[in-house]
Amino acid sequence: MARKIHIFDTTLRDGEQIPGAKLNKNQKLEIAHQLARLGVDVIEAGFPCSSPEDLQAVKAVAQQVKGPAIAGLARAVEKDIDLAWEAVKDAERPRIHVFLGSSDIHLQKKLRQDRDKALHMAVEAVRHAKKYCEDVEYSTEDGSRTDFEYLCRIIEAAIGAGATVINVPDTVGYAIPDEYGGLVRKLREAVPALDRALLSVHCHNDLGLAVANSLAAVQNGADQVECTINGLGERAGNASLEEIVMILKTREASYGVRTDIKTEEIYRTSRMVSRLMNIPVQPNKAIIGSNAFSHSSGIHQDGILKDRSTYEIIKPEDVGIRQHKIVLTARSGRAALGHRLKEMGYELEKELFERVHQRFLNVADRKKEITSEDLRSIVEIEMTKVTETFSFNSLQIMSGNTMVPLASVTLVRGGEKITDAATGNGPVDAVFNCIERIVGEQGKLQDFDLKAVTTGKDALGEAMVRVDIQGTVYSGIGTSPDVIEATGRAYLNAFNRFFANAH
Ligand code: KIV
Ligand code: ZN
Repeated sequence: MARKIHIFDTTLRDGEQIPGAKLNKNQKLEIAHQLARLGVDVIEAGFPCSSPEDLQAVKAVAQQVKGPAIAGLARAVEKDIDLAWEAVKDAERPRIHVFLGSSDIHLQKKLRQDRDKALHMAVEAVRHAKKYCEDVEYSTEDGSRTDFEYLCRIIEAAIGAGATVINVPDTVGYAIPDEYGGLVRKLREAVPALDRALLSVHCHNDLGLAVANSLAAVQNGADQVECTINGLGERAGNASLEEIVMILKTREASYGVRTDIKTEEIYRTSRMVSRLMNIPVQPNKAIIGSNAFSHSSGIHQDGILKDRSTYEIIKPEDVGIRQHKIVLTARSGRAALGHRLKEMGYELEKELFERVHQRFLNVADRKKEITSEDLRSIVEIEMTKVTETFSFNSLQIMSGNTMVPLASVTLVRGGEKITDAATGNGPVDAVFNCIERIVGEQGKLQDFDLKAVTTGKDALGEAMVRVDIQGTVYSGIGTSPDVIEATGRAYLNAFNRFFANAH
């Protein structure tokens, strides 16, 4: 059997460090359950000392998500390690992940420590974590820029103190594949203690090489790859899980290794993360971008129609993208909707199914055919909805190039309809102003993205916004065949998140 590569997902920790992508407890739980369905080996659920909310979120993941090991990150200090343990202790398989800078740059400029003191700190930290937890990962932060002899000493000492996993990150994305692969090989040769621990890699994408570096490390003996869904992460991001996994699967004969990832769950996971973190996936992104399996040139289309293998190296179904031949319409009954949802892998509870059905009817009234992509957008937005303080009811716009745009919006609060009107610089601005008047709060729009879920003039529009409300950035998402309505729904969704957070 091929050697197994452990997949350590850090979307909920390194991915969540992106400004504005902060997740609340329920959102983390939802993604963590999906990561478990995807089959990752480890979920790094957060950095418990970073905030009491994050501690609670990691704790909830540890208590409720079964299957993968659940890791909490900690600096090499007792207080952080205590909090990390507090957060992960109820997991089926808890892991404490301790890190400390090891390069001279980090030691001198950031930590102001000499090498021996830092080594002592590392050993003490691992020993402290080990008092609580059998599974302790130790990361030599900025490992790829660390003096090799010193790196070997730390690794040997950390394993001696009880570390079960050693991670050598390329923290600043500086490494190149030959060099990073060589580092992993040399470490394996120089540190015999590594036979008693897993060797992990964690690559950042500052030079666009995170995936290539991770694969070079795998070829040279790394056991675990740390990565994120959609390649999200600090600065230019981390190695993308979907790319690593699909490269190892598609080129299995060349790499001779395997993962336990259920690749058919990749697309759904990617969409969920994009929605909940409110970070759109670029269309040409490998594996999960909207163009990854679309063929536009005539020659390619002709080839694909004759035999898919002419221009396709991965089957869309292998990553969970299914094309359904029968389209749904407003006349499709509940049974047909339920059947399609099942085919798409959604098992919805009654209450959620009812909401999806209502929204489906509302959209189908205005759009002739509902495709699987439309349905996916509807379901995922309903799934990720917070408790709504205000729900959307209706919207009217008067706009044109010779008049001041005017919007009238009706929202519902506690069963009561509230209508107001406002003008703005454009129709979207007028809708936003009107929503602010009704909810009684002001927001500063930080980011706005609007895309069509499918092709065609009547495509469903999906809007994503990021809004600063009282100093915190909330994301919002909305969908509708009417793009102004989609935008208004997204804006309202951000305010509902604010209210949900405030109570
Ligand atoms: O990039 C990095 O070095 C990290 C560590 C905390 C593992 O994220
Ligand atoms: Zn990192």
